[in-house]
Amino acid sequence: MDFKNEIKRRRTFAIISHPDAGKTTLTEKLLLFGGAINTAGSVKGKANSKYAVSDWMGIEKERGISVTSSVLQFEYDDYCINILDTPGHQDFSEDTYRTLMAADSAVMVIDGSKGVEAQTIKLFKVCVMRHIPIFTFINKMDLEAREPFDLIDEIENVLGIRSCPINWPIGAGKRFKGVYDRNTENVSMFQAVSVGGAKGAAENTLSVHDEALKAEIGDELYDKLMEDIELLDGAADEYDQEKVDRGELTPMFFGSALTTFGVRTFLEHFLKATNPPLPRLTDEGVADPMEEEAFSGFIFKIQANMNKAHHDRIAFMRIATGRFDASKDVYHVQSGRKFKLSQPQQIMADDRKIIEEAYAGDVIGVFDPGVFSIGDTICAPGKKFTYEGIPTFAPEHFARLVPTDSMKRKQFTKGVTQLAREGAIQIFKDYTLDLSEIIVGVVGVLQFDVLKYRLENEYNCEVRLEPLPYNYIRWVKDKTLDLNKLKRISDCKKVKDMDDNPLLLFANEWSIRLICEHNEGLELEEFKKN
Ligand code: G4P
Repeated sequence: MDFKNEIKRRRTFAIISHPDAGKTTLTEKLLLFGGAINTAGSVKGKANSKYAVSDWMGIEKERGISVTSSVLQFEYDDYCINILDTPGHQDFSEDTYRTLMAADSAVMVIDGSKGVEAQTIKLFKVCVMRHIPIFTFINKMDLEAREPFDLIDEIENVLGIRSCPINWPIGAGKRFKGVYDRNTENVSMFQAVSVGGAKGAAENTLSVHDEALKAEIGDELYDKLMEDIELLDGAADEYDQEKVDRGELTPMFFGSALTTFGVRTFLEHFLKATNPPLPRLTDEGVADPMEEEAFSGFIFKIQANMNKAHHDRIAFMRIATGRFDASKDVYHVQSGRKFKLSQPQQIMADDRKIIEEAYAGDVIGVFDPGVFSIGDTICAPGKKFTYEGIPTFAPEHFARLVPTDSMKRKQFTKGVTQLAREGAIQIFKDYTLDLSEIIVGVVGVLQFDVLKYRLENEYNCEVRLEPLPYNYIRWVKDKTLDLNKLKRISDCKKVKDMDDNPLLLFANEWSIRLICEHNEGLELEEFKKN
């Protein structure tokens, strides 16, 4: 197959959700369809599970959670699908955000009984910043769920995106009868196909115009369905592919991942409506995988110690254009060095498969010879452009980091600096000249444990973390502004990042508003573009 067709058939997306909405279950069902796994239960290693996607660090085992993430690749029809799996527990990290930078679209899984939850909102904001298509899967319709029109309202009001239901549920929980497909006007009758390797039975469908439907679902649900259809046809947004492409309209699906109901319909619609690898911005203009034949990619994540025996680091690279050939040299733009990428591998669950080639859209892991940083560009020798950087996302937890043994200051500084470069933590110093104080910021509190563990285990340096009472950080847009001149600033902390950018730490959103009100022209930012 010529290389453009290889690229065209690729779909690279991330699944975003609040923990427990069903991201893992949905991912598993998609993998089952693609034949990539044979039994449900292989994706996430819960506490005592025999399977685990990754257990690269003792801490993961101790807490029974998966800190790391992987890339799941499988084939379905003629598509080659890359699912960028993101840590799905409460304590997610900045990596979860960064993974979205490598995706071309996102699937938002929402628990039908809960609606839009906190973590979904955070991840959603990153998708919006990138203007990528977002598809919504309202899950757990086999359990009691909220009124679907309420869910639509909430998605539109809380997230600020328009929605277009592709199908519509008939009842929920014990009275869940199935979904109505607004295009075909057919109703798929609900049947559970949950067990093990089942790929989903042939769906039993009835036309909405079929007399038999009333008998199947009962008068009450039938009448409600007719009313809902009328309301939807009159009031819901029409499907508009351009708006979907720009991330302004989310196609919405209802189903039940656990019972595999509605998953295939969702996947098939999704594959048709989503894009092959998208063009990306570089300092020399747009690099379009459909035009540009030469290989290029960027690093969006670095993970240390995947192999405990060696202190190695794996960098995750999203291939942005062309074909990667493992036998050829590549050029690392930031260091100006040319080399072969060592041990390029596909990282899927426990499997690490050494690969010889990969295409735009794919994500591969490569051994980091110690030169990579997040956002770096790698391309074919002879080229010399850089991809738009990966933004720095606002941490939400802060602590003062103190080495318990002052003799080990050197290891401490080295460890902290390296971990910050890897993107596991962000470090800040006081705005005044007190250089000895190091403040760490993390997106999820688990990263504090990871930091302590790694400093002790990899750098032989014990540390104490003194939590600080701040949860919000904002970059000050005007770098030259003297923070000491700001008014009403007493309850926030002034800091600088390692590039000397000024920032403010706040205890709550109220104090952010207060300071903006009292300092005309002050512009604060939640992401820092790099
Ligand atoms: P997450 O990755 O988003 O955190 O969620 P996950 O898929 O692990 O699902 C969370 C829980 O919800 C799991 O139950 C899962 O079986 C259940 N679940 C997911 N989709 C559906 C659905 O469509 N219907 C119903 N009824 N349940 C669903 P658990 O008991 O917490 O875990 P497990 O013991 O089943 O692994």
